[in-house]
Amino acid sequence: MRVVVTGGAGFIGSHVVEALLGHGHQVVVVDNLSHGLRNNVPASAQFIEGDILSADTWRAQIGQADAMIHLAAQISVPVSEDQPETDVRTNVLGTVAMLETARQLGCREFRLASSAAVYGDNPRIPLDEDEAGVPLSYYGLDKWIAEFYVRHADRQGTLKGTVLRLANVYGPRQRTQGEGGVVAVFAEALSQGSPVVIFGDGEQTRDFIYVGDVAEAFTWKLGEPGPGLTLNIGTETAVTVDAVWRILAGLAGRSPDGIEHQAERAGDIRHSRLKTARAAAWGFHAHTPLQAGLEETFQYFQHLNPQ
Ligand SMILES: NC(=O)c1ccc[n+]([C@@H]2O[C@H](COP(=O)([O-])OP(=O)(O)OC[C@H]3O[C@@H](n4cnc5c(N)ncnc54)[C@H](O)[C@@H]3O)[C@@H](O)[C@H]2O)c1
Repeated sequence: MRVVVTGGAGFIGSHVVEALLGHGHQVVVVDNLSHGLRNNVPASAQFIEGDILSADTWRAQIGQADAMIHLAAQISVPVSEDQPETDVRTNVLGTVAMLETARQLGCREFRLASSAAVYGDNPRIPLDEDEAGVPLSYYGLDKWIAEFYVRHADRQGTLKGTVLRLANVYGPRQRTQGEGGVVAVFAEALSQGSPVVIFGDGEQTRDFIYVGDVAEAFTWKLGEPGPGLTLNIGTETAVTVDAVWRILAGLAGRSPDGIEHQAERAGDIRHSRLKTARAAAWGFHAHTPLQAGLEETFQYFQHLNPQ
């Protein structure tokens, strides 16, 4: 298949591109490099430096495609709160524009990267897909709205629309600037020998999923007939931030004790965990153990920051 990956120069997108190439697909990456890196895109993928909000300037370079995997987004929750218009433009209008572009390219399938942020702080964990709809941020709200456009296009029969709601993704190539996940922030600090801070008591839990597993989810059953689905992509496992810190500190040969704790950040959710039964019924399971995923991630940061 010929697959367009928006945001393919970013953290998750670049892993999706590798997985697609590994499965023998042809890949076209569209990314404006606002947060991604040209070097993340393998040489065997076609690369177009373009913005999802100006598809008219690049669509003709693609001509035809079979599927689009849409990951390009404004990913920062604080930016979405400061600049809600920017967020809605990129994350809602950008998704609408990509649905239309996919249709014009002849795509039969569209996959959206949505987020656990569509659930907000709901205590009924693990959260199943029907619990969504009370987001705490404009980012979560705009992802939630974007999902409706994908499901609408699916119902209209324009293309098969699948929504993947991602838990906390970690792994190599995650950026620590801005909205870096806690794994990337810890791994970078440890590889640089810099001080580390935990916000709150460290007992808050997250559903951490390795980026390689997420990339497999985006390629799972691509091109197969069937209805479009809305699915959680996580591990259904609660891991404390403190446990992540302890594993990474161990990998770095550093004592995990005596770490500085600061006040919890406003708006941080205490516990987050996604139910994965629907993804399992689809046949998808995340299989990378936390320890192995953290080792891969730490090695990546160590390679970037050799001491
Ligand atoms: N990282 C996570 O834990 C996580 C969790 C849930 C959902 N997601 C979603 O997964 C997707 C990928 O996230 P990521 O963590 O890889 O972020 P990322 O910032 O590394 O990747 C996003 C990519 O999109 C590109 N981009 C941004 N705006 C663009 C535009 N207007 N036109 C073209 N390209 C543009 C950026 O340059 C970047 O390469 C996003 O949709 C994000 O909301 C991520």
